[in-house]
Amino acid sequence: QGDLTSAHRKGKKVIILGAGIAGMTAAYELGLAGYDCTILEARPRSGGRIWTVRRGTAETEIGGIKQVARFDEGETMYLNAGPMRIPQFHSTMEYCRKFGVAIEPFNNVNEHGYYYNENVGALSGQKVRKRAAKADVRGYVAEMLAKAVNQNALDLPLTPDEKLKLVDYLKREGDLSADLFYKGSERGGYIEEPGGKLDAGVRRDPFDMKSIITSGFGIFFASEYSYDQQMMMFHPVGGIDAIPRAFEKRVGHMIEFNSEVKEIRQNDSGVRIVYTNAKTGATQELTGEYCICTIPLSVLKSIPADFSKEMADAIGKVNYASAGKIGLQFKRRFWEEDEQIYGGSSLTNMDITQMYYPPTGYFGKKGVLLGYYVTGANADKIGSMPVADRENYALSQAAKIHPQVYREFEASFSVHWKNIKYNVGAWGSYSAEERKTIYPTLCKPDGRIYLCGEHISYIPAWMAGGIDSARKVVTEIHERVMKE
Ligand code: PHE
Repeated sequence: QGDLTSAHRKGKKVIILGAGIAGMTAAYELGLAGYDCTILEARPRSGGRIWTVRRGTAETEIGGIKQVARFDEGETMYLNAGPMRIPQFHSTMEYCRKFGVAIEPFNNVNEHGYYYNENVGALSGQKVRKRAAKADVRGYVAEMLAKAVNQNALDLPLTPDEKLKLVDYLKREGDLSADLFYKGSERGGYIEEPGGKLDAGVRRDPFDMKSIITSGFGIFFASEYSYDQQMMMFHPVGGIDAIPRAFEKRVGHMIEFNSEVKEIRQNDSGVRIVYTNAKTGATQELTGEYCICTIPLSVLKSIPADFSKEMADAIGKVNYASAGKIGLQFKRRFWEEDEQIYGGSSLTNMDITQMYYPPTGYFGKKGVLLGYYVTGANADKIGSMPVADRENYALSQAAKIHPQVYREFEASFSVHWKNIKYNVGAWGSYSAEERKTIYPTLCKPDGRIYLCGEHISYIPAWMAGGIDSARKVVTEIHERVMKE
């Protein structure tokens, strides 16, 4: 991208569909290089799925009633309904730095959060601190493996030195005794904290091996291992929409809001976009030389467009994930005051799947907790409920982990992305097979139209997917223009 100099591009007109992060990145980068860009945005705001719900935010889902957020005013009283966290190595961070978007840690991992499962044997219905479950599962698994190594029970020849090293590692990994037993560990925490003078505290006893294995808690550990969920993670101070706001400050003059795209036309010499004003209904047209289309494929597939048959077929085939969130405002931060949980999550096999404690505003009076963040079948199940029922459902399951919720609850706002107009889904989702068949087609320009967005990346469901696909498209258009 180093050669994006302006000399030749004056007047080259690029029409960008969508003022989400992909469209605004494209406009920003092309604008720097002297291209003439217009962004058509259906909504009266920028950001797309990068959306912060705070006091007064209103939304009417497809087939739903109008919700107006009744959260209190306040810098930390918000729900990030779409993206909420940024891995430190994502390109999103580059723009935060360049645009001066203040960030703070997003506490994605917290050993003081809980696991809570139902119908899993002896530990059913017990909330267990993550550190306790981890200490026990790792302890017993390390014990079994260390013994198997020493009894030569592994189906793998090991030299005496390799055995020694492996067992030494397992001893530390599981906090095993010298004779290779897991007998509990201070890593699992205390029932009475140690303190001053003669107060040694009381360490918790480990669960027995069968109970902890049967609890299913072990399958939760991996959620924080994946590359893009590992700490450190960050988020903007005051809400994720600080990011689109920073972009808008730079490209806002190029955006035509309330512009619903109705037709996408092209021929050998240019593109023509037909759109209506979402408020007045007036129809307009815009012509240009290239089009960057960031409209989610779940929406694009129903817009009349001059795509090749191959491209139209591919667009029609992509599945969009289902996802939903609910923000619950509480008048007291009981998770902090009563249970010493400052950010991070609790995970459960109940339908709500996971709750996130606010990773900001610690010690504040009130807080907005992410009461569920659900995907797939759970999202469809909860999302199909009227909003009042979603609230009740979220509270009834949250109450199993935090009985305080009923006393402290004040207000909720829920979002089901499949029912959000102009999105109709959470993110593009490809099987390994589809990455080989339809995906390469989506990545190729179709005449003068370039698809762009998180769905045109190998980091779908991340803001960086939108950014990185936009940078690729900008480079491709520029290379093409240079050859013209
Ligand atoms: N980026 C989204 C999130 O962090 C969705 C996602 C979840 C993507 C897990 C990859 C892995 O919640």
